Amino acid sequence: MARHTVVSMPGDGIGNQVLPEAIRVLNAVGFEADYVHADIGWEFWRREGNALPDRTVALLAKHKLGLFGAITSKPKKEADAELDPGLRGKGHTYYSPIVTMRQLFNLDICVRPCIGFPGNPLNFIRKKADGGYEEPAVNVVVFRQNTEGMYAGVEWTNPPDLVMQALRSHPRFKPFARTPGPELAVTVRIVTRKNAERIARAAFEYARQHGYKNVTICEKPNVLRETSGMMEEAAKQVAEDYPQIPLWSTNIDAQTMWLTKNPEDYGVIIASNLFGDVISDAFAGLVGGLGFAASGNIGPEVAVFEPTHGSAPKYAELDPPIVNPIAMILSAAMLLDHLGEATKAQRVRNAIAEVVKEGKVRTYDMMRISGGPKAMAKGAASTTQITDAILRKLGAGKAVRA
Ligand code: NAI
Ligand code: MG
Repeated sequence: MARHTVVSMPGDGIGNQVLPEAIRVLNAVGFEADYVHADIGWEFWRREGNALPDRTVALLAKHKLGLFGAITSKPKKEADAELDPGLRGKGHTYYSPIVTMRQLFNLDICVRPCIGFPGNPLNFIRKKADGGYEEPAVNVVVFRQNTEGMYAGVEWTNPPDLVMQALRSHPRFKPFARTPGPELAVTVRIVTRKNAERIARAAFEYARQHGYKNVTICEKPNVLRETSGMMEEAAKQVAEDYPQIPLWSTNIDAQTMWLTKNPEDYGVIIASNLFGDVISDAFAGLVGGLGFAASGNIGPEVAVFEPTHGSAPKYAELDPPIVNPIAMILSAAMLLDHLGEATKAQRVRNAIAEVVKEGKVRTYDMMRISGGPKAMAKGAASTTQITDAILRKLGAGKAVRA
């Protein structure tokens, strides 16, 4: 196997706590790689006016593989207020570095597995008609279009004249035409057929390779006739190449309801950017929440793997760290899968499954207690302790250090 170089971008807050744990696990399964650190996040916005410095973009362009922790981002006004005084008024605008990264490298396919580990006390439990309880086996993988849709970034408050002209040319704009510009905010939802087909094909291909029983396109084509319409059309077209896998179509609102009624019925789900963001968090909530939610952002050349949680600033200063590193470690397992290292990836998931099932070592979230400084006194494991437990299952013990 060729030795890989992975760009390591811990970012802000707890990103710095969980990413090194994932590298310890990658080392333990014998993944041969070099890690180069890259700057990303709030500190670089404040100091340099750019949360994704060019040197980080260059490293990703060169090595094509990234592990990303989390970043802090803040609304426009706060971002401007925290910028280094020397940089203010020089035209710097805060953009989320992760959104920028996705667009820059066309990381258009976002994969978010939401798969329950048996024995996880955070798994969703459903009441039965006879008064008893049951735990549905949730095994869903969301394929979220990652570069377009509602998050394309084409938006205005007080749109320029040309845009207003175009909007006024649409009959449905009539009720808004008299709203003063500064009182009017517009976000454009963009779908291209090419990328709608790419996300659909990636989803079907995954379903075929991993034996999923069905693929669901989760949109709202009855209302968003053009954009959701194109997404659904693309899915139907791609489905013709996979006659053995049924394609279902659900509306995003109804899907969030069916989520708790019958989550075990769904396999692979396709959705545009905003809906995919929503529905993947919703499914993740059934299988342990943020501490378990991993993701891959996969483009034609570059791929970046990250937990879906953020920087959790309120826990970032705790020493020792107490947050759950499993989402980050599962993201690292997805990196292994991406490189064709399926056996190593499965070893990682099996080790996590054993630790979760045994239930002896649990971070605070798995104990359903508050994550404050007293969590460990109440029996919660630290970030490092649960990683150590996973390493022991891999036969690696404490010897492996990143
Ligand atoms: P968050 O995901 O950082 O934290 C929300 C809460 O979830 C935490 O307070 C904690 O209770 C829990 N949590 C998160 N990760 C956990 C883990 N690994 N183990 C145990 N518990 C965990 O979201 P929040 O508070 O909305 O945002 C904080 C910052 O993170 C903001 O600046 C936000 O913009 C940013 N963010 C960044 C993301 C990214 O880097 N991809 C994604 C989401 C938010
Ligand atoms: Mg999200």
